[in-house]
Amino acid sequence: MTFSPMFTCFTIVSFLFMAVAMAAGNFNQQFDTTWGDGRAKVLQNGQLLTLSLDKTSGSGFKSKNQYLFGKIDMQLKLVPGNSAGTVTAYYLSSLGSAHDEIDFEFLGNLSGDPYILHTNVFTQGKGNREQQFYLWFDPTKDFHTYSVLWNPLSIVFSVDGTPIREFKNMESKGIPYPKSQPMWIYSSLWNADDWATRGGLIKTDWSQAPFTASYRNFNAQACIWASGSSSCSSSGSSSNSWLSQSLGSTGQGRIKWVQKNYMIYNYCTDAKRFPQGPPPECSMA
Ligand SMILES: *[C@@H]1O[C@H](CO)[C@@H](O)[C@H](O)[C@H]1NC(C)=O
Repeated sequence: MTFSPMFTCFTIVSFLFMAVAMAAGNFNQQFDTTWGDGRAKVLQNGQLLTLSLDKTSGSGFKSKNQYLFGKIDMQLKLVPGNSAGTVTAYYLSSLGSAHDEIDFEFLGNLSGDPYILHTNVFTQGKGNREQQFYLWFDPTKDFHTYSVLWNPLSIVFSVDGTPIREFKNMESKGIPYPKSQPMWIYSSLWNADDWATRGGLIKTDWSQAPFTASYRNFNAQACIWASGSSSCSSSGSSSNSWLSQSLGSTGQGRIKWVQKNYMIYNYCTDAKRFPQGPPPECSMA
């Protein structure tokens, strides 16, 4: 009985944490399904979202909020089995021809053959910064966490907490950096069998449709942009340590490990494509 007040206090605190975590992860509160005529579904009281693709259409969703910087985690479980020809895109993007964009794209494959994780960064409408990776696990068996840390210093792509790519702010060297256009979070599942699997050689097997990808545990520590101002400019920003976070030497080491063992394409080393030498950010990374 002497425990009782403490226990009550602990219980209240746990409930508070639960409420915050659940609000963060609720797809009904954070996202709208935007296309696919019912092929995008929010299930389990907002805890799960699924996208599907069949011969008629793919599907997609979009965040309700716009963000200007954030540390954004999402768990994805990709289309299992023969997913050749399908692409699951998960990305942040602003609007317009001079838009900024931070991309994860998952290119499906025949059963047992590896997915490709394709990444890109667009600044002021210009991309052409592709890096592609194999993953060190089967991304269709379980949910895995794909994260973007986007702050004024750098953009870091991570997979299950392991950084795989960094795009640093090199504005001082004349390279544009995304820092003034708010972005939405988008995802879509569509047919791209003209290029996705072995460069378009393997086509989508529609007898396997519908293809389904699943999402859960969305979490954003982020600056929400609304009516021209940022939620981070108000007080109480002590919890925004991610805004000034950057990769330390451990993180750099992890990136090197991933690039050495799992990177299959890097625009920076594509001499055929850039005969005059790689783009300027490549030599400064
Ligand atoms: C699919 O598997 C083939 C054969 O292992 C591989 O060359 C290719 O990179 C894989 N991924 C995609 C998306 O084509």
